[in-house]
Amino acid sequence: MNTMASPALNRLARQAPLYDVERVRSDFPALEQTVRGKPLVYLDSAATALKPHSVIDATVNTYARDCANVHRGVHLLSERATQAFESAREKVRAFINAAEAAEVIFVRGTTEAINLVAHSLARPRLRPGDEVLLTTLEHHSNIVPWQMVCEDTGAKLRIAPVTDRGEVELSGFEAELSDRTRIAAFAHASNALGTVLPVRKLADLAHQRGALVVVDGAQGVPHLSVDVQALGCDFYAFSGHKLYGPSGVGVLWGRRELLEEMPPYQGGGDMIRSVTFERTLYNDLPWRFEAGTPNIAGVIGLGAAIDYLAGFDAPSRMQHEQELLRYGTELLSDLPGVRLVGTAPEKIGVLSFVVEGIHPHDVGTVVDSEGVAIRTGHHCTQPLMDRLGIPATARASLGMYNTACDLDALGRAIQKAQKMFSP
Ligand code: ALA
Repeated sequence: MNTMASPALNRLARQAPLYDVERVRSDFPALEQTVRGKPLVYLDSAATALKPHSVIDATVNTYARDCANVHRGVHLLSERATQAFESAREKVRAFINAAEAAEVIFVRGTTEAINLVAHSLARPRLRPGDEVLLTTLEHHSNIVPWQMVCEDTGAKLRIAPVTDRGEVELSGFEAELSDRTRIAAFAHASNALGTVLPVRKLADLAHQRGALVVVDGAQGVPHLSVDVQALGCDFYAFSGHKLYGPSGVGVLWGRRELLEEMPPYQGGGDMIRSVTFERTLYNDLPWRFEAGTPNIAGVIGLGAAIDYLAGFDAPSRMQHEQELLRYGTELLSDLPGVRLVGTAPEKIGVLSFVVEGIHPHDVGTVVDSEGVAIRTGHHCTQPLMDRLGIPATARASLGMYNTACDLDALGRAIQKAQKMFSP
């Protein structure tokens, strides 16, 4: 596809001169294919991001060359695998500006990270009548684990509202806080709408009432600069696969003093110091929370993804996405019969929309026939859809490789769906 042909793209290239999207695209082999006879237009990065060659190579190399278990062998392959594994931990530490690598726990993904906090931190602490504060726009994985521990402990969920535009306002959040709030858990950015939440301000409000703050950063890390210390949260969770890394690996960052108080989440190898049938002594952080053989290639691939991102000027990369978001917002707003869902002033590159008279799944199917990959459905945010009075949306989500031409292709594909479904 000749992406340089678009005037809009040329304008973007002028505005973000340090960001060469054509070079970026050439790093992602999945973009070289055609689907349904058309060049792939990938607009589903909020579901999972494509992977650059360097991430794929790091993962393959782990299996092809350094194929050994970590923390266990004295042989050279195990040393190499352990060194690569632990250096990925240090890369994550630097990437999110954690105070120390021991605060970085490798897990399967955001969902497991939140479950770890819910079951290990919250379950032993919550008492009947205590409260856990969420917001209306949370992903199911930041709702259901809290529901589970509330059911078991007699604690209650409270829910901060969202506006019609999909914003979480400080006043609405503050009104749901009380002296019984023990935990406030909310997204850095909404997967369904793209809204960026004012994490620092929400965290300060929660802390003033004595609550701990858990941030679901699954959609935050790929699009925003994340400094966990500046954000002022107590825990931050994210997945590798949305950050151009492998699936099946993610991170829980937590403040050391809290992690040290938490009982292990799972028992097994690597999380122990010594075991007898009478008593087990647990390992130090971070391994205390990493029972069993970890996703070694995934962790090393995640380290490669962070290295890959470090090769770009972050503000230019983010500016490119923001310019595309503006372009896509205008393009979809100008299409008759298309309504954007989620119009908060601060957003990551997510364009959720509905098309009058056509079910989102039908929109998705027609758009796919044009080679354009988007996601349709409730995006694992059913309470949010209920609040907005819709069952589902179609969602185009941007990654670092997208161009204005991709959005033009989406616009044309939507118009095709409208023609097909017009009475
Ligand atoms: N949570 C991912 C999404 O929003 C899967 O698509």
